[in-house]
Amino acid sequence: MTENFAGKVALVTGAASGLGLATAKAFAEAGAAVAMLDLDEESIARAASVAQSSGPRCLPIACDVSDESAVRDAIARTVHELGRLDMAFNNAGIMVDRADTAEASGEDFDRVVAVNLRGVWSCMKYELQQMVRQGSGAIVNCSSIGGVAGGPGLGAYHAAKHGVMGLTKTAGLEYAAKGIRVNAVLPGVFDTSMNDSLEEEQPEMLEKIKAEVPIGRLGKPEEVAAAVLFLCGPGASMIIGHGLAVDGGFLAR
Ligand SMILES: NC(=O)c1ccc[n+]([C@@H]2O[C@H](COP(=O)([O-])OP(=O)(O)OC[C@H]3O[C@@H](n4cnc5c(N)ncnc54)[C@H](O)[C@@H]3O)[C@@H](O)[C@H]2O)c1
Repeated sequence: MTENFAGKVALVTGAASGLGLATAKAFAEAGAAVAMLDLDEESIARAASVAQSSGPRCLPIACDVSDESAVRDAIARTVHELGRLDMAFNNAGIMVDRADTAEASGEDFDRVVAVNLRGVWSCMKYELQQMVRQGSGAIVNCSSIGGVAGGPGLGAYHAAKHGVMGLTKTAGLEYAAKGIRVNAVLPGVFDTSMNDSLEEEQPEMLEKIKAEVPIGRLGKPEEVAAAVLFLCGPGASMIIGHGLAVDGGFLAR
């Protein structure tokens, strides 16, 4: 990792596992203090002690991103305890069971939108308030290849991830002249717990997906972390409102 974030403060949501944990670790290794948010107090405390080992302070915070007041309080606590907020990776997200549109459940739709879309919006809202006070900052939202392409059986998930791109481009425009850059990553298919059920229940589907990825393998969480740190760093100073595919060539087909 070439970025040096010594003296900076990062915030990562969904940081107890997968892409979020790998990114929190990478921020810590690059010298940043990191606020790590996730649903469950015990698992985020455990994750913070893993990420902390090589870096400065990792602050675990139990926070459900679908609860706007909890997000507001978590960001206030980050600033109170770590002093400022320079970078954020709004990554927390969920998947629901696959169902074609005519069979999909309204409850699942609301749940996915509450976490994957409104959660990103709430996080950005309070992060931006702090970054505007500071006059600088970089935000990366976690979209997906599902943020620019359709996916049979995954209407609500893809709609929410498309929405994340709308929020990213809009906030990118709103805050570009205020020293704050807002971008997104579009992960392809990664080896995280999000795909565990697919691996257990529909291994043939996972093999089919793998075969469709030009690079011929699943991504490693560290590969998303590297893209997020790049987008937060000085090398990305001219990049705003962009969705960076980290997908082994999936969208290039
Ligand atoms: N794994 C993939 O193939 C893939 C592909 C494209 C996009 N993504 C996106 O990457 C992000 C991270 O997923 P992952 O693969 O690391 O999955 P993961 O399940 O390993 O991690 C997601 C984390 O988010 C947390 N979380 C869930 N709901 C939350 C809430 N309401 N508030 C706070 N935290 C919450 C979970 O507890 C978990 O720790 C998600 O937004 C997902 O949609 C993943």
